Amino acid sequence: MFKYLIAILSTLFRIGSYLFLRVLPSSILRQILPVLYVLYLSTLFITPTASAVKTRKAPAPNGHAVEKKDEVIQEAEAEPPAVLLTAVIFSIPSPARFLNATNLLINTVLFLFALDFVLYPVIDDASDVVFARVGAVYPDAVKITIRYPVANASENQVRVLWRQASSLEDSTWNAGPLVDLYPEHDWANTTKLDGLWPSTNYEYILANADGTDLLSYPAEPLKFHTFPDPRLPTGSHYRFVVSSCATPNFPYAPLQGRRIKGYDLLANYLWPSKSTATEDALLAAVEADAPPAEFMLFLGDFIYADVPMYFGDNVEAYRRFYRRNYQSPSFRKVYERLPMFHTYDDHEIINNFAGQSNDSKPPFKSADDAFRIYNANANYDPVESDQHYYEFRYADSAFFVMDTRRHRSDVAEGDEISRTMLGEKQLAALYDWLGKVNETTTWKFVVSSVPFTSLWTYEAEVDSWNPYTNEKAALLQAMQSVKNVIVLSGDRHEFAAIKFNAAGADTQSIVEVSTSPMSMFWVPFVRTLRPASEATVKRVHEVAEEFDGEMFTQVLEDEVPQEEVLKYVPEGNYKWSTFEVDTRDPQNPKVRLELMSDGKLAYVLDIAGKPVELRASAGLETFVPKGIKGVLDKLGLKPGSWW
Ligand SMILES: *[C@@H]1O[C@H](CO)[C@@H](O)[C@H](O)[C@H]1NC(C)=O
Ligand SMILES: *[C@@H]1O[C@H](CO)[C@@H](O)[C@H](O)[C@H]1NC(C)=O
Ligand SMILES: *[C@@H]1O[C@H](CO)[C@@H](O)[C@H](O)[C@H]1NC(C)=O
Ligand SMILES: *[C@@H]1O[C@H](CO)[C@@H](O)[C@H](O)[C@H]1NC(C)=O
Ligand SMILES: *[C@@H]1O[C@H](CO)[C@@H](O)[C@H](O)[C@H]1NC(C)=O
Repeated sequence: MFKYLIAILSTLFRIGSYLFLRVLPSSILRQILPVLYVLYLSTLFITPTASAVKTRKAPAPNGHAVEKKDEVIQEAEAEPPAVLLTAVIFSIPSPARFLNATNLLINTVLFLFALDFVLYPVIDDASDVVFARVGAVYPDAVKITIRYPVANASENQVRVLWRQASSLEDSTWNAGPLVDLYPEHDWANTTKLDGLWPSTNYEYILANADGTDLLSYPAEPLKFHTFPDPRLPTGSHYRFVVSSCATPNFPYAPLQGRRIKGYDLLANYLWPSKSTATEDALLAAVEADAPPAEFMLFLGDFIYADVPMYFGDNVEAYRRFYRRNYQSPSFRKVYERLPMFHTYDDHEIINNFAGQSNDSKPPFKSADDAFRIYNANANYDPVESDQHYYEFRYADSAFFVMDTRRHRSDVAEGDEISRTMLGEKQLAALYDWLGKVNETTTWKFVVSSVPFTSLWTYEAEVDSWNPYTNEKAALLQAMQSVKNVIVLSGDRHEFAAIKFNAAGADTQSIVEVSTSPMSMFWVPFVRTLRPASEATVKRVHEVAEEFDGEMFTQVLEDEVPQEEVLKYVPEGNYKWSTFEVDTRDPQNPKVRLELMSDGKLAYVLDIAGKPVELRASAGLETFVPKGIKGVLDKLGLKPGSWW
């Protein structure tokens, strides 16, 4: 009886460990595993052992029991390997001591792996990590975040030295800004280096306050490239990378606590070395004439403050997770070379957080402190000071990055009509931006940490834009009045390209591309995306027909789903999307989306844009609306009943 109990407990523990370490690091499994392990141990120790059996049999005459023990051991040693293997795989208690010991050892090692995975942020708290990275890039400036704990920096101050990157190795350094480093800010600070030329290669290095001694980090100057002057009417051709969701060392491997494999793969993809270039011929072909990637948008779940374990609402616990990422050699390969712009999602705070515009709502304050220091301060300046939403441009493309956490209503409270995802000010800023970029830029990227589509089920039904029905409908209508809008999102640990069909002649179809995880779990077997929405729209199109030798145009109307899936790729622990924007031919603006999953090209989508007669943005600066209603009226959208 005990034999089977041990086998069952041990097998459950092993399956649980595998799922927790390699498939889904859920907190339920985290809680179940120690219980299973302790039950397994207890059962093991209360089971009568061979020696106990022997003692009972010892008084028997003619020394039968002793003989029997010897026989048994011989038997076990003579077992064919297949039987021994089965005993280890299914943890079947065996008369052979070494098999019992092997099974105990396997389970104990698995338990230690789980402990290592869960407690790693505390075991290796990265308190001395030193790094520098470029955030926001402008035609004439960049923002740089530096972390240098006092043990390494002189006088708590670090000077940025910079110069144009040229073939002249010995050209002199210019003294850039000085940054103060304080323990209260975790030894990190962000500065702006300005007075630069557009579309130019630069490099920087760090020195002591008076710029006389170079610091040991960075060993080599770090390079960056300023953005082009947006006033040049030449069109643009560039790439950027989008992803979200990353946790170090998941799927777990022993002794790899600092690894974030997705970034290793990304670095390999962006800057292939000779040895890796031949790996994927298809990829090489696609890459052949691709321009360099200019930046990466990271759409949240950069840390998992509460997965697999929440270390509490305190500033240090949150900061530790960020330091841990910047300490990763995998991530270092990327952030030292590629500017990164961030937004946060719930796991930078806590699962499914809804801030309700109340900054006192725990744990927002602690979470926000760490997010600012490490990620947000190097973003573009926010539209409104102290907020996290921002906009920026790259040549003739415009980007609006939302904050979908701080202001969203709690879906469990209040009525559906008054629910908001963005809060009134942010929503007004977004509408204002749509109006400004409408005819002054070619492509418009609207960036949301959570999916805009309602096709995702399960948790997404409450955590995505889905329950914010009215705000979503109004925003969709406004976006569909603008040419060449693409929505970017993340969060689902799956990839999908979604089409929002145009509803009528004057509206535009919109594509949403949701990409994740950068380096985290995906859920096998369970499919969570519906193929199309029940809601439909009437599509109008004209068809030319010949009748009796004469041409007629016939206006046809058909009904199509409002939202439909173009492509769904759930599988893959390491995913990112690359967007290649090409507006060199103003009549045919193009975007090519390339999805990479586990280091392989998984999907390509060519999105054809419509020509936009670009107007200089100067004249439109007067477009300053008062509140959302004003903006909507101005745009000719009258969602009267929604307010
Ligand atoms: C192995 O464990 C089982 C179950 O606890 C026990 O019956 C058996 O005697 C053990 N074998 C040895 C050699 O200790
Ligand atoms: C960053 O450095 C500047 C300039 O040295 C200093 O004024 C500022 O207080 C520092 N900020 C933080 C957050 O440490
Ligand atoms: C920073 O200081 C720590 C502790 O003194 C040391 O281990 C580390 O190597 C130093 N790093 C650099 C880049 O100088
Ligand atoms: C904001 O949140 C705090 C903490 O939960 C609460 O005490 C306070 O009443 C909230 N304020 C408002 C205006 O709801
Ligand atoms: C964008 O421009 C088109 C054409 O001028 C106009 O119909 C539409 O209302 C504008 N949309 C926004 C959001 O400004």
